[in-house]
Amino acid sequence: MRAPPSYEELTRNFDWKVAERELGYQPGGPINIGWMCSDRLCHRGLGGKLALVWEDYQGNEKQFTYDDVRVLSNTIARFLSGLGIAPGQRICLFMDRVPELFIGFLGILKMGAVAQPLFSAFGEESLRVRLADAGTSAIITQKKHLYKVRKIREQLPDLQHIILVDAEPASLQEREIAFAMEKNPRIEHFSCYPTTAESPSVLHYTSGTTGQPKGAQHVHYSIISQYLTSKWVLDLRPEDIYWCNADPGWVTGTSYGIIGPWANGVTQVVLDCGFNATRWYEFMEKRRVTVWYSAPTAIRLLMKEGAEIVRQHDLSSLRYLASVGEPLNAAAVLWSQEVFGKPFHDTFWQTETGCIVITNFPGMPVKPGSMGKPFPGITAAALDPKTFEPVDRPGVAGLIALRPGWPSQLRGYWNNQIGFNAKFKNGWYLCGDRASIDPDGYFWFMGRDDDVINTGGHLVGPFEIESALLGCPGVAESAAVAKPDPVNMEVVKAYVTLKRGFQPSDDLELEIMNNIRKRLSPLAMPQEIEFVDSLPKTRSGKIVRRVLRCKEFNEPVGDLSTIMED
Ligand code: WT7
Repeated sequence: MRAPPSYEELTRNFDWKVAERELGYQPGGPINIGWMCSDRLCHRGLGGKLALVWEDYQGNEKQFTYDDVRVLSNTIARFLSGLGIAPGQRICLFMDRVPELFIGFLGILKMGAVAQPLFSAFGEESLRVRLADAGTSAIITQKKHLYKVRKIREQLPDLQHIILVDAEPASLQEREIAFAMEKNPRIEHFSCYPTTAESPSVLHYTSGTTGQPKGAQHVHYSIISQYLTSKWVLDLRPEDIYWCNADPGWVTGTSYGIIGPWANGVTQVVLDCGFNATRWYEFMEKRRVTVWYSAPTAIRLLMKEGAEIVRQHDLSSLRYLASVGEPLNAAAVLWSQEVFGKPFHDTFWQTETGCIVITNFPGMPVKPGSMGKPFPGITAAALDPKTFEPVDRPGVAGLIALRPGWPSQLRGYWNNQIGFNAKFKNGWYLCGDRASIDPDGYFWFMGRDDDVINTGGHLVGPFEIESALLGCPGVAESAAVAKPDPVNMEVVKAYVTLKRGFQPSDDLELEIMNNIRKRLSPLAMPQEIEFVDSLPKTRSGKIVRRVLRCKEFNEPVGDLSTIMED
């Protein structure tokens, strides 16, 4: 068999047109992710192939062929159009990882609307902020999450339809409607809305330092990048059984948990169950998983459980392992080499990039602790933070920056042109992270360049937490910062000053924590609250989180003079 082309070869001759050709896209013609990921594969004779094998924590199981996915996404698309939802309107997916989430995503795209996936773990306040910003028309959810939607629906005048995938019509109130995907009459033929390359497809909310979360707007043409990176970086091949353990509330779960694998026509398996080492290994053994895309926090949790439990399972089917979301420590790569016989390949990217941009490419020697090199077709650099020119010496830290123009780059932040413009400097897109590049061209991640907290691979914005803290009893002012954590890398810590008449106490700390957990999410909940008399501020009164963060990490604060003048 001929050896696959090397990284150098692919980089030298690279053109995204490879993906256009393989997907059968004619420039200027229609392109629809929903159709590309289902109908197209049926036309190519894969209708009978398994697209999705789903299992939940109780062991319930469902299987769907590509033809099932095609017909059921048609069924959903027809139902949504029937409600009068127009192309371009936002439809939120707010569900656990049930089949309706994955197939519904394609259905929304088929009828030309914009899919807005949100974590089902979100509390009502996190949900409200994102639905209000996007002016979302409809939400597809489950009975168990309905109480959160009911709490906020009166504050969301645009929200016309609350669709329940598992409820009896009799139990529903006004604007609520039941839709049972598999019981509904199956729609064999549905004419997809003729979206083109730049038609909006997905709106993913992500956190920044300032303001509430921003909606990264993607387009149908993004599939070009997602298809090719899945094939080349995750090394997906037709016979693979692929498992991505990310939730589609996170961009990994859509780009590489729906679009990438299905565009490649592979069988993907989904386990709707939180972290559980035994359950995960059993699942991989039973399903004969060949390619596994995971995250450092999960790997650290597995490391804690030890190697013995790995040996109790037959994981010989595993061929390729990859990781995303946070720095993948060298120790985790070495551990995986030892227990699985192969290393985890780090991949670096963001909600905004839509696809993997820096990675340990298959076949390229892995340097444990390094993120690898830019994907062919991506130009990446480390920029001097003052001049925004690439740093001229290897090993010197700079801002990770990409030359704009790859297919799955975000096209804007929803309603936020200023925030979007701020991401570009001197002809580069700034990721908001720092790295150095070694003489071989490998990138070494150094940290974020802002106040965003990365907990277990999930970004949480300090502003969103601080806003929610203001709604808690007694809180006068607050600053949310990262604090180091052995498993999650970082967790949230809140510094809080209290209003007159309130005294610090364990009860108050617990009350505040619970309040944030319920209204935002378990991830956003501060693991510690420190009550203080005052917070470090600039002369104009802005809180300087960096001082507190440095304290948590035992790092020198450095020169604050310009910040303090602010
Ligand atoms: C931020 C993006 C795209 C899915 C990930 C979550 C951090 C991501 C790595 C990595 C070190 C990483 C960065 C980045 N990050 N991958 N391999 N090594 N840090 O997407 O929620 O938009 O987060 O996650 O800080 O900017 P996201």
